[in-house]
This record gives sequence, structure tokens and C-alpha cells, in this order.
Amino acid sequence: MKAASILTLIGCLAMAAEPKVYTRCKLAKIFARANLDNYQGFTLGNWICMAYYESRYNTTAQTDLEDGSTDYGIFQINSYTWCRRGTLQERNYCHVACSALITDDLTDAIVCAKKIVKETEGMNYWQGWKKNCEGRDLSEWKRGCNVS
Ligand SMILES: *[C@@H]1O[C@H](CO)[C@@H](O)[C@H](O)[C@H]1NC(C)=O
Repeated sequence: MKAASILTLIGCLAMAAEPKVYTRCKLAKIFARANLDNYQGFTLGNWICMAYYESRYNTTAQTDLEDGSTDYGIFQINSYTWCRRGTLQERNYCHVACSALITDDLTDAIVCAKKIVKETEGMNYWQGWKKNCEGRDLSEWKRGCNVS
């Protein structure tokens, strides 16, 4: 019994370390529940399209940039301005550890993305959005998804 529970625990920990890639509709549901639809005027399609081009829905995506900073998670949020990696020059406007932005639980990443949209120039922060989503008909992105 005890050995079995330890094995189960180890199994769970191993799974938690696996990169998690969400499906489009699962993400649509999570985004809708977090009230991202029409947040600051950006429809659900904008959020799903943006997350796709930024991270391919991969919560553990990390991109190291030339300036020494790193983009984290599903929204590729940058460590220089928005989260804390531990170095002094970081501004950490979201008051969050960067490591919290690459977990399966998207709560912190969503809170931070909302702050970015609200306090900067909308979704212009995201190059992937500007290049591929801005000004397009994005209704396709939530097609077939059961979002209420
Ligand atoms: C998700 O991102 C991680 C970290 O960058 C990478 O190791 C992994 O291969 C990616 N998974 C997929 C399915 O792209």
C-alpha cells in the first residue's frame, strides 16, 4: 500500500515535469472561463490565435533572447519587464516568478497577460499576434469549441 502510493506520487511528479501542450478547444474553454473574451476589446479568437503563434499552445515554451532575457510560457511573457528570474535589473511588473508562467495552471500567465494588454498597447506586445492575427477574421479559432 505504502510503496504503491509512493510510486503513484513519483508518477505524478514525473508527469508534472512533462511539457504540456493544450488543444485549441481546451484553451478556448480556459480562456473563456478566465474572462478573456472581449477583455479590453480582444475577442476569444485573438487570444487563441496569439497563443498559437507565440507558443503553439506549449505551456513550457521558453525562448532565450539576445539581450539575455527569456520569454516564458503560453504567452511568451518576457523576464526583463514582467516576471522575476532572480536577477536585479528585472522589473517584474506582474509580481510573479517566471517559473510560474510555464506551469499547466495558466492562472498566473493569464493574470499577467491581462496586465500587459491593459497597461501597454493592447496586443501589440505580441509579434506573433501582430503578424498573424491582427485585423483578421478570427472566428475560426474558436470553431467547434464548446465555449459558453
Ligand atoms: C514544448 O516546449 C518545451 C520547452 O521549450 C520543449 O522541450 C518541448 O519539446 C515542446 N513541446 C512541443 C510538443 O513542442
